[in-house]
Amino acid sequence: MARTERSVAREVIAFAVATFVVLLAVGIVGVLVLRRVGNTEAIREAKRLTEVAALGVVQPRLDDGILRGEGDVDSQLRIDTVVNGAVVRDPVVRVKIWDPSGSDGRIVYASTPELVGSSYPLDPGQLEALRIHEAVAEASDPSLPQNASERDLGSLLNVSIPITTKGGHELLFEASIRSDSVTANARRLWISFLPVLAIALLALAGLQVPLAYRVARRVRRSQEDRERFLQRAIDSSDLERRRIAADLHDGSVQQLAGVSMSLAATADSLDQRDPTASHALRDAAAATRRSVRSLRSAVMGIYPPDLQRAGLRAGLTDLAAPLAEDGVRTDVNVPADLILPPEIETLLFRASREAIRNIATHAHAHHVQLEVSSHGGRVALEVVDDGVGFTPLQRDDARANGHLGLKLLGDLARDVGGQLRIDSRPGGGTVVRLEVPLP
Ligand SMILES: Nc1ncnc2c1ncn2[C@@H]1O[C@H](COP(=O)(O)OP(=O)(O)OP(=O)(O)O)[C@@H](O)[C@H]1O
Ligand SMILES: [Mg+2]
Repeated sequence: MARTERSVAREVIAFAVATFVVLLAVGIVGVLVLRRVGNTEAIREAKRLTEVAALGVVQPRLDDGILRGEGDVDSQLRIDTVVNGAVVRDPVVRVKIWDPSGSDGRIVYASTPELVGSSYPLDPGQLEALRIHEAVAEASDPSLPQNASERDLGSLLNVSIPITTKGGHELLFEASIRSDSVTANARRLWISFLPVLAIALLALAGLQVPLAYRVARRVRRSQEDRERFLQRAIDSSDLERRRIAADLHDGSVQQLAGVSMSLAATADSLDQRDPTASHALRDAAAATRRSVRSLRSAVMGIYPPDLQRAGLRAGLTDLAAPLAEDGVRTDVNVPADLILPPEIETLLFRASREAIRNIATHAHAHHVQLEVSSHGGRVALEVVDDGVGFTPLQRDDARANGHLGLKLLGDLARDVGGQLRIDSRPGGGTVVRLEVPLP
């Protein structure tokens, strides 16, 4: 259960981190969108302000006298009074009125009087305003001579809108507005939306994490159920194999071993009296021993010994038993107090099985010694026989023909950081030595 909680917690944390990253990305995009909306809204506000000043305040007082510029002092004064009294106040810092009818635009009124009468090319924003008959905003370019007097006022936004004199002459009204007031407006707007965005995102995360927790728990539970069923299936097949192995071992194997012994004994007692019968009985005893041997290896195949329970010594003794039955003297030495990790015991068992199988098949040995020892954080298995031995060439030939017993053993040893050494010479027996480090 603790394992479930831990793995569920891990999955939920991973999910929460992923959610956080996604929400952060959504949040950043949201803030950018809000800023954009705020900017657009603030510019619209600046245009509205200009519209009210141009159409509501200045236009009703605009007669054609203004077209004469400084030449009509009255008109100038009238507009100047209303502009200074009601229009040029924060954030509007400058006002100009242009006559766009010539090839260049001519300033017919300006809140900075030096500019009145001068002509400059109209910029794209102004031309656009004339074309669409609506307010157009653009950043003021301080490098242009008509904007020279505004250089020390910081960055400005110029909003232009067409207006008409009482005589029907079209002019262009231009208000210069402080950009920082526009951006401050924009910031105020998007910041006022920020808490709504944050609360929405947090609520989303707050809803999703418990949901993820529930799903992860359910998935983990069903995984555990599956593992449990699988384990049960393995256990029951294991039980079945153990029963078959026990039946064979305690029944047929013991009976046949008894039969072979009594056949051999009867053959001995008939030796003098009836040599033919004695010979036949000896053959029968040998055949029975062979059957016992193959039954024993079958038992070992069906159910390899539970090394954990029976111990490595018992496992190796069982392995060597068929050799002993064949008349080979076998010594098995495993220190009684040796405790090894299960995977190392299994490896030593497999190595011994291959070495003993090789002895039985190839060695014609009289004496076999199995020894397990451990020191310096390493454990060693040595299987020594006094059989016919072999040359490296024989071994290579066997390998080329698909006989891989020793090769596989070497690979297994290397996998756990150990090594397998084989010393053999024709007529001089064989030593198989496996050494592995203890974890
Ligand atoms: N104890 C031994 N005494 C004599 N010859 C041996 C011994 N062990 C191995 N050999 C020789 O080395 C060869 C290679 O052994 P290895 O275990 O790799 O293959 P195998 O026993 O022939 O076949 P497999 O193990 O694949 O069933 C054998 O064919 C045999 O000639
Ligand atoms: Mg072999």
